[in-house]
Amino acid sequence: MAKVLVATEKPFAPAATEQIKAIFDTAGYECTFFEKYNGQDELIAAVADAEAMIVRSDKVTPEVLDAAKSMKIVVRAGAGFDNVNLETATKNDICVMNTPGQNSNAVAELVLGMMVFQARNHFKGTSGTELCCKKLGIHAYGNVGKLVAKIAKGFGMEVYAFDPFVDKADIVSDGVTVFDSVEELYSTCDYISLHIPANEHTIKSVDFDLMSKMKPNAVLVNTARKEVINEDDMLRIFEEKPGFRYVSDIAPVNKEELLSKYSDRCFFTPKKMGAQTAEANINAGKAAALQIINFLEKGDITFKVN
Ligand code: 3PG
Repeated sequence: MAKVLVATEKPFAPAATEQIKAIFDTAGYECTFFEKYNGQDELIAAVADAEAMIVRSDKVTPEVLDAAKSMKIVVRAGAGFDNVNLETATKNDICVMNTPGQNSNAVAELVLGMMVFQARNHFKGTSGTELCCKKLGIHAYGNVGKLVAKIAKGFGMEVYAFDPFVDKADIVSDGVTVFDSVEELYSTCDYISLHIPANEHTIKSVDFDLMSKMKPNAVLVNTARKEVINEDDMLRIFEEKPGFRYVSDIAPVNKEELLSKYSDRCFFTPKKMGAQTAEANINAGKAAALQIINFLEKGDITFKVN
């Protein structure tokens, strides 16, 4: 009986855990839910005899992977896999997968929700502004970016995008205007929504030069990763551009300083909640469970990322 560990410091919705368990029960696997654990040492102890593991943003470090002597596959139930150390996984012959697209709608809905929240002055009752007819710039047009475009169009926004990795024609066919330079996107739009992954090319890439191109009252929305922002540069932007605003689902390291100085101009969710819906948890959790079974039983490596 294959042993699967579902290690989620931030648990899935109960409906998702029930459905994940049902999939593994039917397949004859032993599935253990390891939720709300405290730190790496607990995870290191829990992985000891697992052959497969499902995680969310949980940190799968070299130490965790080295302690998982029977591990064959780790599936990140979600899009970004920057939390899994791919180098050690590959060295230890562990397959790593993600579940692209499964939680995208939840994140996209939150983007628009946060934009409305900022446009309406944090729901404090003072007169705000509308999203209709404003320009939205989507920085990276993947699964989430595409859905953000679709919902924003429902609000009557003009939608623009920059993504050198996506075929221009595919973006244009969604009724979105494509820019060839990221600077043009930032200088044109009233709202910029970030959807770039965190990797060696993107970490701290949203820097002073780029943010200084933004319109005087522009809003930057981040449901991607905090690491893509150069936080020192952002502090400077807050000081130098009095209309600049930042709403993020991933609190920056200097959150307290920003909130104490610019409380009306920034907002951070208490815990990353973009993918925190029952639907997203069910979609990503079930996909992860089926990917594990298909890998262990049929050698299916669709969605392998290492
Ligand atoms: C993702 O990369 O899929 C999102 O950031 C969701 O992360 P979470 O599963 O930790 O909520």
